[in-house]
Amino acid sequence: MSAPVSVLVHRDADLLAHAVTARLVTRLVDVQSARGHAHLVLTGGGTGIACLSCLSRSPARDAIDWSALDIWWGDERFLPTGHPDRNATQARTALLDHVPIPPERVHEMPASDQVADVDAAASAYAETLRAHARPEDHAPTPSFDVLLLGMGPDGHVASLFPEHPALHASLDPDGEAGAVIGVRGSPKPPPSRVSLTPGAITAAREVWLVVTGEDKAPAVSLALSGAGPLAVPAAMARGRRRTLWLLDRAAAGSLPDDLVGPAGR
Ligand code: 6PG
Repeated sequence: MSAPVSVLVHRDADLLAHAVTARLVTRLVDVQSARGHAHLVLTGGGTGIACLSCLSRSPARDAIDWSALDIWWGDERFLPTGHPDRNATQARTALLDHVPIPPERVHEMPASDQVADVDAAASAYAETLRAHARPEDHAPTPSFDVLLLGMGPDGHVASLFPEHPALHASLDPDGEAGAVIGVRGSPKPPPSRVSLTPGAITAAREVWLVVTGEDKAPAVSLALSGAGPLAVPAAMARGRRRTLWLLDRAAAGSLPDDLVGPAGR
């Protein structure tokens, strides 16, 4: 039986960021209380970074044991270390530079001044993931407790874009794609990126899609109404135990009432 999918709608992007912050603190504290450690996958994009900024400003952030949290990324722009457009740079500015997380627990995807190309970056990150996986994870990645994803107006998540060759390759059951794939010719700049594959994303215990803005409403509706993953990559973003669509009203604007409920309007 597939894991439940919940759609939660909040008034606007600001309230959504606060709601995600509260939910994230609670989830991470519960996981750390139960298992002593947690793995969190961050996303790039304005909505995801706004959630990190909100978490950074929240006194509740100190309820998280930062020494027992490993940070990963769902995707990265293939740019030099510290480049302002890198998702990791933006996450450090928004949150990670302001909390006592040990540097060795922050796992950036390789930068363009560290490896030759996106394929080398993908291979290196896949190896890092594999090195942190335990036998009980039964996967080439650690069991991510929460994997955050933003979504573009075209329905892309991470750096998996509709009908893109990298998406085709990573969805091919007979293919060679592992947990991480190099992406060239991204329709969203910059063109060179590195991304977790659908297999790595769906291995997460929980996947939370954090989506705001009217321009996303059509793709949200398609993703939740049975669209295929090649046309709408967000449609495949499911967690093993739970999938949350955390939306503002604008992004939920094309959803039928039975998915949203009166409170979400
Ligand atoms: C990236 C992101 C990308 C992003 C979406 C949504 O590297 O650009 O990982 O997947 O999350 O494009 O971005 P916004 O929240 O800014 O719309």
